[in-house]
Amino acid sequence: MEPPVKPLKPAELAPSDKALVPFVSVDHMMRLIHHIGVEAMLRDLAGYIEADFRRWELFDKTPRVASHSEVGVIELMPTSDGEAYGFKYVNGHPKNTKEGLQTVTAFGLLADVYTGYPVLLTEMTLLTAMRTAATSAMAAKYLAPKGAHCMAMIGNGAQAEFQTLAMKALLGIDSVRLYDIDSRATEKVARNLAGHGLTVVCCDTAEEAIEGAQILTTCTADKQNATILTDNMVGAGVHINAIGGDCPGKTELHRDIVARAEMFVEYPEQTRIEGELQQMPEDHPFTELWQVVSGSAPGRRDAQQVTLFDSVGFAIEDFSALRFVRDRIRGTEYYTDLDLLADPDDPRDLFGMLMRSV
Ligand SMILES: NC(=O)c1ccc[n+]([C@@H]2O[C@H](COP(=O)([O-])OP(=O)(O)OC[C@H]3O[C@@H](n4cnc5c(N)ncnc54)[C@H](O)[C@@H]3O)[C@@H](O)[C@H]2O)c1
Repeated sequence: MEPPVKPLKPAELAPSDKALVPFVSVDHMMRLIHHIGVEAMLRDLAGYIEADFRRWELFDKTPRVASHSEVGVIELMPTSDGEAYGFKYVNGHPKNTKEGLQTVTAFGLLADVYTGYPVLLTEMTLLTAMRTAATSAMAAKYLAPKGAHCMAMIGNGAQAEFQTLAMKALLGIDSVRLYDIDSRATEKVARNLAGHGLTVVCCDTAEEAIEGAQILTTCTADKQNATILTDNMVGAGVHINAIGGDCPGKTELHRDIVARAEMFVEYPEQTRIEGELQQMPEDHPFTELWQVVSGSAPGRRDAQQVTLFDSVGFAIEDFSALRFVRDRIRGTEYYTDLDLLADPDDPRDLFGMLMRSV
């Protein structure tokens, strides 16, 4: 017969501080963003990302772990700076919007390397849109032509407003020219950007959208090699911010543009599989963005150059975003404590903790 177990008093049943993990829900994240302000947070996030790009070499790096299906991809994106470890779960399902679902959803976790205990669990669908936009604008600071004030935003889905406002917050763009194959998406962005201090022009074609723009952002979702920009559309001196090509067999630019543009990438081992770079031979030249940020390689060299940020989204950008959230929720009401870890008083008595809980 099993010995009777002595029930714990309620206080002893309560999890210890370390077992309680701060959890940021979607509602908390929305309130945190409003509290800081969208543009201010995009600027601050870009600062965190820039700081981590400067210490790029000390991070553990690996291409993300992707599980592909006929309809989309599910990915895990881990990295560590030796003190903290972070990962993001993210999906990419271009067909989802037709079913009333998001193309991209995400959540992420930050842990203490010393104990292995998580220190933050957070929604990352909104945070991914913020960090992707902040990364784009951070890159554009080094790569866009001086005085850039107008951008084309091709692909007017979930990321579009964030991308636009980041370019406004960090580069001071004052007008945006929108295009999407679905005019309802364009109308949505125009509506959402009203009152944000930008001149917004809705266009009927991609050609019309790029007229007079110095920054061309492509942010479309399609599970194929698309040609959002053709070579004849890209004039001297522009900066291309290519966001949507981020999976094997999923690109946005005509190969001739990629061939003649000065290419900047996040983590080459991942970009080669997922970015516009997958269209090019092994020896195609590129510069790693962290080298530009840390001053060991030049960004834009002259006014005539066509620069291309071949963005696929790398784990370090999510790590920066997780650090940012951990720092900014301290002492606020924008999280709850989640009873996530079993943490018995006697660390070897996990079973005893279970038995005493009845
Ligand atoms: N690089 C990164 O870090 C990063 C981060 C997040 C998302 N993404 C990628 O960015 C893309 C956009 O994400 P989202 O969440 O905004 O997706 P979304 O599905 O909400 O929006 C995509 C939009 O692209 C439009 N579109 C599709 N084909 C087009 C075409 N040929 N011309 C013009 N518009 C077209 C669609 O109508 C839709 O409005 C996705 O491919 C996603 O995987 C990249």
